[in-house]
Amino acid sequence: MSKQIVSQRITVPEIMKRKGNEKIVCLTAYTTPMANLLDPHVDLLLVGDSVGMVMHGLPSTVGVTLEMMILHGQAVMRGANRALVVVDLPFGSYEESPESAYKSAVELMKRVGCQAVKVEASKDISNTISFLVDRGIPVVGHVGLRPQAIHLEGGFKAKGKTSLERELVMEEALSVEKAGAFAVVVEGVASDLAEEITRKIKIPTIGIGASPKCDGQILVTEDMLGLFEWTPKFVRRYANLKEEISKAVESYTDDVRKGLFPGQSEMYMLKAN
Ligand code: KIV
Repeated sequence: MSKQIVSQRITVPEIMKRKGNEKIVCLTAYTTPMANLLDPHVDLLLVGDSVGMVMHGLPSTVGVTLEMMILHGQAVMRGANRALVVVDLPFGSYEESPESAYKSAVELMKRVGCQAVKVEASKDISNTISFLVDRGIPVVGHVGLRPQAIHLEGGFKAKGKTSLERELVMEEALSVEKAGAFAVVVEGVASDLAEEITRKIKIPTIGIGASPKCDGQILVTEDMLGLFEWTPKFVRRYANLKEEISKAVESYTDDVRKGLFPGQSEMYMLKAN
């Protein structure tokens, strides 16, 4: 009999047990080197479909394909061996029917080796979530501001200003929980509403632009590292990589123009004997 392989990764039940306990630290990752840097620190790495905007310069997440998610998911899995890895099902790969969602999720899980998938949750998605969970696929829901619905909404709109919006978001969160998701991302939601959702549902909430009272937090890594001129207002920049990179490239440009050797040191230049 083959030896049992014990996973060193944080598991879905471990994340669920963190509800109301130690906060869950989450960040996005799309590449091997970034996953490598983040993995020792975070509990959960999300290969978000934000990859389309962050890495491919797309105007929204709508253009992201399943193949893109698979390639970036594989890269992240190669760079991380501790964090739980969740991959987004992109727009068009799961909404048509529970069966279409199952097919996409199975392809992702087989080819990537990730532990779970995430779906944006309109109030009609609960059948799909329970269809996946019943077949052994752990699911994270995503409520509130749903970037894949950008064209329906006319932009990236925060939620929770009107009572109708509040009811809708609460309904989405409750139905995601009832359908069997093990956690839910709460994005761009009024903080008191995010807090109320966190109190009402028994699965962990992971906030982004929501409330510090959520059970965990997630940010787009490149936003919090200060790689872009513009980031959403709620994002705190923990570094200013844009400036650091510009400075480094300026120094390199100067060296090259001056005819200096841009390698480590002239000592390492290959010379004829
Ligand atoms: O796609 C993504 O990166 C996300 C997070 C911002 C939650 O969904």
